[in-house]
Amino acid sequence: MVREVRFTCVGLGNIGRNLLDILVHRGEAVVRDYGLRFLLVGAADSSGAAIAADGLDMARVRDLKLARQGVAAYEGAGRPGMSALEMVLNTPADLLVDAAPTNLQNGEPGLSLVRAALKAHQHVVMADKGPLVLAFGELTALAKAQGVRLAYSGTVAGGLPTVNIGVRDLAGSGVERVEGVFNGTTNYILTRMDEEGLSYEEALRGAQEAGIAEADPTLDVDGWDAANKLVIVANSVLRRPTTLADVHVEGIRNLTQADLRRAREQGKVIRLLAVAEKKGEEWAFSVQPTSLDRNHPLGRIGMWDMGVVYYTDYMGVISAVIEEKGPVPTSAAVLRDMINVCLGV
Ligand SMILES: NC(=O)c1ccc[n+]([C@@H]2O[C@H](COP(=O)([O-])OP(=O)(O)OC[C@H]3O[C@@H](n4cnc5c(N)ncnc54)[C@H](OP(=O)(O)O)[C@@H]3O)[C@@H](O)[C@H]2O)c1
Repeated sequence: MVREVRFTCVGLGNIGRNLLDILVHRGEAVVRDYGLRFLLVGAADSSGAAIAADGLDMARVRDLKLARQGVAAYEGAGRPGMSALEMVLNTPADLLVDAAPTNLQNGEPGLSLVRAALKAHQHVVMADKGPLVLAFGELTALAKAQGVRLAYSGTVAGGLPTVNIGVRDLAGSGVERVEGVFNGTTNYILTRMDEEGLSYEEALRGAQEAGIAEADPTLDVDGWDAANKLVIVANSVLRRPTTLADVHVEGIRNLTQADLRRAREQGKVIRLLAVAEKKGEEWAFSVQPTSLDRNHPLGRIGMWDMGVVYYTDYMGVISAVIEEKGPVPTSAAVLRDMINVCLGV
C-alpha cells in the first residue's frame, strides 16, 4: 500500500531545489522501495509561496528556480509576498522541510516555522542549523510532546550520517571522544595548501572560484560552522545540553605555509578538527587547527571530503568519510530523513 505524505518546503536554493530534483528523478523508486509518495503541497522562498492541496509539480518549481524566478510566479498557485510562516500555518501537511538560510542571531525564519509545524503535529526535517544551535532542547522536547519526529541528519557534514551513526548505530555503547572534519571549505583550503603549496589567500580564492566558499567566508574559516555542527553532535549524540559558548573556537585564517610545512616534515597534516572530549564526568569542546598523523582516519582524507571518528567504550573506533563536491548530498540527506521519519525508523 502506498502512503501519501504531504510536505511543505521552505527554501528553494541549493538544498531545496536539489531535493525537488532528486524527487523528480527518484520519486517512483521511493514509492516502490518504501511505499511513500511525497506530495509537495506548499513551497516558499523570498518571493512568497505557492500552495496546492493536490500537489505542486516539483519539476516546475525546480525549473522556476533554475530560471531565477520566485516560486510565487507559479501559475495558478503562486502567492506573491506570502511569508513562509503564513504558508506553513495555512497549508495542511504531514511534514515540513526547513531549507531556509541558517541564521545564528535569532534562528529565523526557521525557528518560528519549525515551532509552528511541530505544534501542528507535523514531522520536521531540517537542513537549517540555526534553530538547532539556538534551541535544541526546546525543539526536541516539543517534537516529543507532539508525538512527531524532528530530523536533521543533513546539518552535520551534509550527506555524512554523522548524527545517525552516533544516535542510532552506537546505541548501548558509550561515546568517549568524537573527532570531526565537519567543514568542507576549510578542508579544501588546507588540503590545497598542503598538497600544492598554495598560500592561505590563494587556496581561499580557489575555494571561492569553485563555489564552495562564500564571498564572506568568516563562518567557515573562523571555525564557527564547524562549531555549530559540534554543538548539534553534543546535544544529539552525547545528549549534553551545549551551546556555542561551550566551544573553544579557533579558525584557520592565520595558518601559513610554514605551519603546514612543519607538520609535513613530521609526517603530519593540519586539519580544522572539531573535538568533543570526555574529561571525567564533563566534556570539553573545541574547534581548532590540529596536526594529525597522515594515517589517522581524518589525516588520510582528500580535498572534497569530510569525516567523523567516534571512540567508544565497547564498540571500538568507528569512522566514516564522505566525498562531497556540492550541495546535492545534503539534499539527499533531507530525503533520507523524510523517508526515515515517515517509516518511524
Ligand atoms: N549548501 C550546502 O551544501 C548546505 C549543506 C548543509 C546545510 N545547509 C543549510 O541548508 C540551508 C539552505 O542552504 P542553501 O545552500 O540551499 O541556501 P541558499 O541557496 O542560499 O537558499 C536559501 C533559500 O531560502 C530562501 N529564503 C531566504 N530567506 C527566506 C525567507 N525569509 N523565507 C523563505 N525563504 C527564504 C531563498 O529564497 P530565494 O531563492 O528567493 O533567494 C532560497 O530559496 C541553510 O540553512 C544551510 O546552512 C547547506
